Amino acid sequence: MNEPVKACVIGWPIRHSRSPLIHNFWLRKHGINGVFEKKAVAPEDLHQFLENLVEFGFCGCNITIPHKTAAFDIPVIEDAATKNIGAINTVFFENGQLKGLNTDGMGFCANIASHINGWTANDQTCLIVGAGGAARSIGFSLQQQGAKNIFIYNRTQERAETLSHALGPTAQTISEVNLKDALATSDLVVNTTSLGMIGQPTCQIDLGPLPKTAIVTDIVYAPLETDLLQAAKARGLQTVDGLGMLLHQAVPGFERWFGVRPKVTEELYALVANDLNAPRPA
Ligand code: ATR
Repeated sequence: MNEPVKACVIGWPIRHSRSPLIHNFWLRKHGINGVFEKKAVAPEDLHQFLENLVEFGFCGCNITIPHKTAAFDIPVIEDAATKNIGAINTVFFENGQLKGLNTDGMGFCANIASHINGWTANDQTCLIVGAGGAARSIGFSLQQQGAKNIFIYNRTQERAETLSHALGPTAQTISEVNLKDALATSDLVVNTTSLGMIGQPTCQIDLGPLPKTAIVTDIVYAPLETDLLQAAKARGLQTVDGLGMLLHQAVPGFERWFGVRPKVTEELYALVANDLNAPRPA
């Protein structure tokens, strides 16, 4: 039998990563002779590891905290949104060249589309809560899909300004003063902060001004149903939880490493949700 094709996820620390669970599920489903591993790579070893991926036996990898920004300079970046984000979570080889991609924002958009038939950010007004790395990935993907307006609302106004500025004229910083007005015109709200995560304070935004058709999403997936999503459901708004983003961001990497575009299924969702020890909300 041939040697299995190997990919991995690198981070520091790495033990909590669910990527092996996801990719090894797909490898089994598709009967591919492959393995997906976890590799603890210290920051000082990052360059050496990525530059010698093949020697280490890997055809590519996912990159997680704290390496996403530091890894950006190593591979060739072709995707426009990834160039703007300035951070990557996936590397692969194409025609012998190491390439990098940020699939977080793509995963975010694909997750909503998988829940709400026909959804794209095209012509939408989107309100992003937070201005960190996740907000940046999501902001540029929403923009790439043609979002009309992107509002950035963050505890630290200065970081919101920096992200708005990077996104350009479609983006605008929001403060307490104009939050209500911004919500009143928003089609989509996404919490990209750690607020609402188990052990963290809740994301306390009054969703009252949102149009009845608005979608509320959270990138937090532990718990699966955050207080923000509960509040949105109570108002009859459409909600999309954060676990699907984690699953969908994995799709482009698997396709490039193993040559098959995998599907995010109920079975995979349940597998990872069980692993997170959180029952799926009704
Ligand atoms: P990530 O890469 O996961 O987005 P990050 O870059 O550290 O992480 O960004 C975290 C985001 O969560 C920021 O928007 C942060 O707000 P600040 O810019 O004001 O720090 C937000 N955040 C984290 N804890 C928060 C809290 N307790 N209240 C409000 N916002 C919080």
